[in-house]
Amino acid sequence: MKKSKVLIIGATGNIGFQLAKASLELSHPTYALVRDTAFAHPEKSQKLQTLANAGAQLLKGCLEDLTSLVSAIRLVDVVISAVSAKQVPDQISIIEAIKKAGCVKRFLPAEFGVDPDKVQIGDLGYRFYSKKSEIRRIIEAEGIPYTYISCNLFASYLLPSLAQPDLKVPPRDKVRIYGDGDTKAVFVKESDVATFTINTIDDPTTLNKVLYLRPPGNVCSMNELVDIWENKIGKKLEKVYVQEVHILKIIQDSSHPDSTHMVFIYSAFIKGDHTYFDMESEGVDGVKLYPNVKYTTVSEYLDNFL
Ligand SMILES: NC(=O)c1ccc[n+]([C@@H]2O[C@H](COP(=O)([O-])OP(=O)(O)OC[C@H]3O[C@@H](n4cnc5c(N)ncnc54)[C@H](OP(=O)(O)O)[C@@H]3O)[C@@H](O)[C@H]2O)c1
Repeated sequence: MKKSKVLIIGATGNIGFQLAKASLELSHPTYALVRDTAFAHPEKSQKLQTLANAGAQLLKGCLEDLTSLVSAIRLVDVVISAVSAKQVPDQISIIEAIKKAGCVKRFLPAEFGVDPDKVQIGDLGYRFYSKKSEIRRIIEAEGIPYTYISCNLFASYLLPSLAQPDLKVPPRDKVRIYGDGDTKAVFVKESDVATFTINTIDDPTTLNKVLYLRPPGNVCSMNELVDIWENKIGKKLEKVYVQEVHILKIIQDSSHPDSTHMVFIYSAFIKGDHTYFDMESEGVDGVKLYPNVKYTTVSEYLDNFL
């Protein structure tokens, strides 16, 4: 089957770069819409050079320039947005450009987290999730073919510290455990999220569906995470149990964005937002659909910190 042509918006960003790399690795003709300023930025220009060397076509443009969006989108079949959470509402211009271009077979908006329609944290998230849900509703109302990627947490976020927001590496003496420590969260390495994502774009099974990622070996409670780490370092850690009321107080006593980590921890390890519902009654299971994708498990990921 002919591989769809893909446009990545946000290819200089964290998940966007991985998506562009995966698209090229899976032999899709790949385009990246890039802001002018990125070329002058050392780290971003390095990423762009890597992508260009691998065959990506770099196009200048941005969300604010509708003409640039329409011209770029006319070249492709699939549009993947990987703009940051802050720009989620601005994706309205991508939707407008997709309507104008009239050629898009699939749109994947910037999601790549917990399913925004499933989170149970009320108003705690500063509308982080409701803005993603609003974009979903607009895409659906406009009749644009879509796939939403619900990968839960990127491995590089919270996993290196075992969900200790003040640390960058796993603790070696003392660890905070949230609630009773038995609620399971999901961590997926960004490059694996990208590979699963690119597998969906020409797959009719994922059309107008949410793709959920809960790979075995990546679905872990706090107690299991600590257990895995203790076995690796050959040492027991002192456990401090932090109850739900205390987590809510920490969130209420700190302001946005300082409270953000605790909000994500509350959602994952107290409310169980990654795992409380049955994936297949709400969407499709990425691991079952693409059993050939070799992914990094939590245990393998933590080996990097020994
Ligand atoms: N599951 C998780 O643990 C997790 C963690 C973080 C993020 N996420 C989600 O992943 C998605 C992407 O976030 P990220 O952190 O990967 O993003 P990021 O690293 O901040 O990258 C954002 C990208 O968007 C581009 N961009 C920003 N404003 C733009 C504009 N006006 N026009 C065109 N391009 C623009 C940036 O370009 P420049 O280089 O020019 O600035 C950059 O390439 C979001 O939906 C976010 O919520 C999930």
